[in-house]
Amino acid sequence: MPITNHPIPEVILSTAAKIPQLGYGTLAVQPDRESTERNAAITAEIVSQALDAGYRHIDTAQAYGTEQGVGRAIAESGIPRDEIYVTSKLANANHSPDDVKRSFEQTLENLGLEQLDLFLIHWPLPTLYGGDYVSTWKTVTGFVADGRLASAGVSNFQPAHLERIIAETGVVPAVNQFEIHPYFNNDAPRETCQRHGIAVEAHSPLGHNSAPLSDPTIAAIAAAHDKTVAQVILRWHMQHGIIAIPKSARPERMAENLDIFDFALTDDELGAIDRLDHGPDGRVGPDPDTYEGV
Ligand SMILES: NC(=O)c1ccc[n+]([C@@H]2O[C@H](COP(=O)([O-])OP(=O)(O)OC[C@H]3O[C@@H](n4cnc5c(N)ncnc54)[C@H](OP(=O)(O)O)[C@@H]3O)[C@@H](O)[C@H]2O)c1
Repeated sequence: MPITNHPIPEVILSTAAKIPQLGYGTLAVQPDRESTERNAAITAEIVSQALDAGYRHIDTAQAYGTEQGVGRAIAESGIPRDEIYVTSKLANANHSPDDVKRSFEQTLENLGLEQLDLFLIHWPLPTLYGGDYVSTWKTVTGFVADGRLASAGVSNFQPAHLERIIAETGVVPAVNQFEIHPYFNNDAPRETCQRHGIAVEAHSPLGHNSAPLSDPTIAAIAAAHDKTVAQVILRWHMQHGIIAIPKSARPERMAENLDIFDFALTDDELGAIDRLDHGPDGRVGPDPDTYEGV
């Protein structure tokens, strides 16, 4: 039985699909990113704990090496397929159209799924592949057309990248997943997403275990609600309409991060957290305009 007694709200995407607004991230649940049997067993155990806690939205990626473990946990859970929302992402090495197709088939096989709920281009890579993320996007949208994918989206796309794929293909991503937390509000892509009806999903929603978790302003708000700093940060995401996918390998924190639907932040509290934004200095992950990593 899920530990939480409060249902997780759903966000309705432009594809009419419903995505649980709070999900579970699987980056670094393994000691490394290799697709080994040992890693699959580790991830399967941790994702099973997340499903037991009540998560019904799991975020994985080709690059994390966690797809097999996620697939195993889903298969062993006995939870009906249509009650679990699964996202994966295209690895940076796989942007060429043939590699997009081959690796998407591998993703479905790793996850043991016939249809994936959401597939994202992980990074735009404007400085690689001749800057041609448009062909990559066209190939990903083809999986929706052939029925193997419910919703196609992107990750770490800046306003210019979003405008370009929309202008050149006429297909608007259902989701953009990018870094957002109280020290990095990342307003520019949020504004572009809102204008085009693209759902905003926060990665590193807690700041990737960095400064926001020890911020004194958030700590004071948390104390006033008898909640933790992490819970207040996640509640801030929810009240801004942002989908968030916190990662924790610890069952007690998995439950803590879900237990955010029995209180509400006031407008003043939301504003106080908004004002903690450090602008570009608050970014903890790579800059999507220049990132060329895995
Ligand atoms: N699209 C992209 O490029 C991209 C980039 C980064 C992340 N992501 C996705 O977003 C997910 C989340 O991001 P993230 O893993 O970078 O960072 P995050 O969720 O912001 O923070 C995770 C860190 O916070 C700790 N933590 C979790 N809950 C806590 C709590 N209640 N109290 C105190 N500490 C807590 C975790 O440690 P413990 O595990 O020890 O609890 C871990 O070190 C990833 O797993 C991945 O699925 C995507």
